[in-house]
Amino acid sequence: MNRDQLARIAVGDDERGGVSRRAFIKGSGAAAAATAIAQGAIVMADEAPTSTAVVGPEATAITMTVNGRQRTVSAEPRATLLEVLRTQLDLTGAKPVSSDGSSGASTVWLDEKPVSASTTLAIECEGKSVRTVETLGGVKPDPVVSAFAAHDAMQCGFCTPGFVVAVRAFLDKNPTASEDEIRAGLNGNLCRCGTYANVIAAALDVVKGGSNG
Ligand code: FES
Repeated sequence: MNRDQLARIAVGDDERGGVSRRAFIKGSGAAAAATAIAQGAIVMADEAPTSTAVVGPEATAITMTVNGRQRTVSAEPRATLLEVLRTQLDLTGAKPVSSDGSSGASTVWLDEKPVSASTTLAIECEGKSVRTVETLGGVKPDPVVSAFAAHDAMQCGFCTPGFVVAVRAFLDKNPTASEDEIRAGLNGNLCRCGTYANVIAAALDVVKGGSNG
């Protein structure tokens, strides 16, 4: 089917070559395409890759690995990863501080790369691996968590989970980072309470392998 044929269907050109609109749509399998046009989501079936699938706006199943466990959620395509983590998977470590990701408070790992969960769509995570700050806690917490506690690197705590993930991710790549490098490496995270000095001290403590490292 070409664009002209689809356009005729969309504008109600009922008869073409003796074939009624109803029979034409039924016989050609174009009902989905006509619906897509009506909804503004034009998909040319003849031109699109066979793997193209139109999902939404209703909720759809999304399967991802979260903290080492395969999870399937039902979420609208517009739902963010942060919303799904917090409201469906009860993982509330990552915080909804800024919807544009500028605070860094929702930092999580996606396929082991730090990303902002508030600007990542859940549907983008289909088949991928998500790791959250919760994996750094427990009976034997990650040294970064211990260092934050030892250096009192928090006040209200809203930025803290994002900072902890950011520090862990940065030090994994830069295990011998200097203070200046740590400051530069953490410039994507904001703290409204101004705990920066203690956050940097905690990160340096881990680098130096101090009592908390
Ligand atoms: S401790 Fe309050 S925003 Fe950082």
